[in-house]
Amino acid sequence: MPRRDIFLTTKVWNEDQGYEATKKAFDASIERLGGKDAVEPLDLYLIHWPTPEKDTYVETFKAMLELRDAGRVRAVGVCNFEPEHLQRLKDETGEFPAINQVELHPKFQQKAVRDFCSANGIAVEAWSPLGQGGDILTNPVLDGIAERLGKTVAQVIIRWHLQIGNVVIPKSVTPSRIAENFDVFDFELTEDDLFAISDLDSSDGRIGPHPNDFN
Ligand SMILES: NC(=O)c1ccc[n+]([C@@H]2O[C@H](COP(=O)([O-])OP(=O)(O)OC[C@H]3O[C@@H](n4cnc5c(N)ncnc54)[C@H](OP(=O)(O)O)[C@@H]3O)[C@@H](O)[C@H]2O)c1
Repeated sequence: MPRRDIFLTTKVWNEDQGYEATKKAFDASIERLGGKDAVEPLDLYLIHWPTPEKDTYVETFKAMLELRDAGRVRAVGVCNFEPEHLQRLKDETGEFPAINQVELHPKFQQKAVRDFCSANGIAVEAWSPLGQGGDILTNPVLDGIAERLGKTVAQVIIRWHLQIGNVVIPKSVTPSRIAENFDVFDFELTEDDLFAISDLDSSDGRIGPHPNDFN
């Protein structure tokens, strides 16, 4: 597959945060991906977690902006950033990240993060968009919508992400599911469907750790 047909993202891991360490980690990632000539410019480079206790994400972001300005990556972003972390990046570097990848699925809808990102031109990307394939896939509300539309629950969830404006990255190692997860552009959820799904949100629906507790 030609390089241009792939949107290639990688991340800087928590232990590699810091100005110099990030630049080194970027070089190491490029080598692991096949070398500069094969993959640069990378499409997106992300900070994996804010790790606020370490307090290195601002320096990390400064290194990433330099990598972008040098043409080695087209866009830089973050993962698992709360509004206060995003605002601090803007205050201390003059820029918001292009994107914030956060845990986001019907049981944990991240309204505050989505509102902050939307107000500040930051794209939102949903990780674990299918709730990691857990019991959300047998939820009766979603099942009812899927049955009416002749689609699967996974397709209804992916369509919901797209209609509320999320970038969505469902993971599957199963070829038939990969095809199924792409097949979401021939139907639309109604306002009532979106309303019913917004009701599935739960404050304790998080699967992963809270970003402030993950250091
Ligand atoms: N930034 C972060 O901190 C962070 C954290 C976690 C994940 N992520 C990213 O988010 C991506 C996706 O998240 P995730 O893998 O945690 O969860 P996910 O995409 O919500 O769910 C993946 C699970 O759902 C199953 N599945 C996929 N499509 C399906 C379908 N059509 N019908 C039924 N089951 C289906 C998969 O099974 P099979 O594979 O067996 O088909 C797998 O067990 C990952 O690739 C990762 O890059 C980021």
